[in-house]
Amino acid sequence: MKILVTGGLGFIGSHTVVELVNAGYDPIIVDDLSNSNIRILDQLAKIIGYKPAFYQFNLCDAQAIKSFMEQEPDIKGIIHFAAFKAVGESVKEPLKYYRNNFYSLINILEAYNSKGVNLVFSSSCTVYGQPDVLPVTEDAPVKAAQSPYGNTKQIAEEILQDVIAAGSKLKIVSLRYFNPVGAHDSALIGELPLGVPQNLVPFITQTAIGKREKLTVWGGDYDTPDGSCVRDYIHVVDLGKAHVAALKLMEKQDFKGYDMFNIGTGNGSSVLQVIKAFENATGVKLNYEVGPRRPGDVEKVWGDVTKSTEKLNWKTELDLDTMMSSAWQWENYIAKNPL
Ligand code: WQD
Repeated sequence: MKILVTGGLGFIGSHTVVELVNAGYDPIIVDDLSNSNIRILDQLAKIIGYKPAFYQFNLCDAQAIKSFMEQEPDIKGIIHFAAFKAVGESVKEPLKYYRNNFYSLINILEAYNSKGVNLVFSSSCTVYGQPDVLPVTEDAPVKAAQSPYGNTKQIAEEILQDVIAAGSKLKIVSLRYFNPVGAHDSALIGELPLGVPQNLVPFITQTAIGKREKLTVWGGDYDTPDGSCVRDYIHVVDLGKAHVAALKLMEKQDFKGYDMFNIGTGNGSSVLQVIKAFENATGVKLNYEVGPRRPGDVEKVWGDVTKSTEKLNWKTELDLDTMMSSAWQWENYIAKNPL
């Protein structure tokens, strides 16, 4: 069964392509390479044994999608990753984010609205903001977005529900990711941040390998056990498997319309706990200091994953140590084999 994977050469997209193949699907990758590296295609071939079909174009171009559909008329499912996702950048360039993230989504929806395909949408726990109750459940109120990036995820979920309410033939599942980290155990694919990493784990591994001088822990005076922020870090391989589970759910006869799931471990880890886990898993002492809070950070968030476990028939299998050791193996791989 052919599955269109938009943004399929990205961090989460590439790991999901591997899990799709493992589950017997035939992933068809579309990526405009604006935030990914074409060499990931060769890396994927080393893991899955063949080079997946790849089309390079921007999904904001409706004409390009039409010609794609003529070349690939048998798409039965779509996993839509393609979007800009840097929180800080979205504050500086909101229109770039609104244009790209909404034009691409709306083009996909218009192109496939009348086809009975199953659509998995890449959403984010960022829609919750700072939840009042933890762990946060899917029916928690969606808070005012902390950034244009977060706003694009919130509004996208509303667009999807409106499309279903209007009688679309699509079936749609939104997955609200918590914090994806780690890398495939082959160390052939992983996170490839452009420039200075914004996210915690790539900054940790780049500091450990000597590309960065020191990690700054943004804030040590939060109302948490050790004063640093708490997040629900999830291994990117477990996250990839959640997308397969979402397709399987929609293939069931009794699935109708729209549903949405938290995709996390259900446990919170502080920044200092992540650093400790990294040092324990790798034996590498990390050079870090505690600095000021980062504007826009929520203090603590982790997911209630009861609904995903029961209805999606999915739960995480990989622990924080494995997340850290796999991220470190990947950092070492790209140090020796720059892509
Ligand atoms: C995690 C914690 C930082 C860097 C964002 C998006 C989310 C998703 C993942 C796209 C925070 C702290 C970080 C550093 C630090 N993006 N930190 N020093 O902000 O939870 O989530 O990225 O899908 O949607 O909101 O992730 O990794 O940036 O930060 O102390 O150098 O690590 O303050 O507490 P975040 P993050």
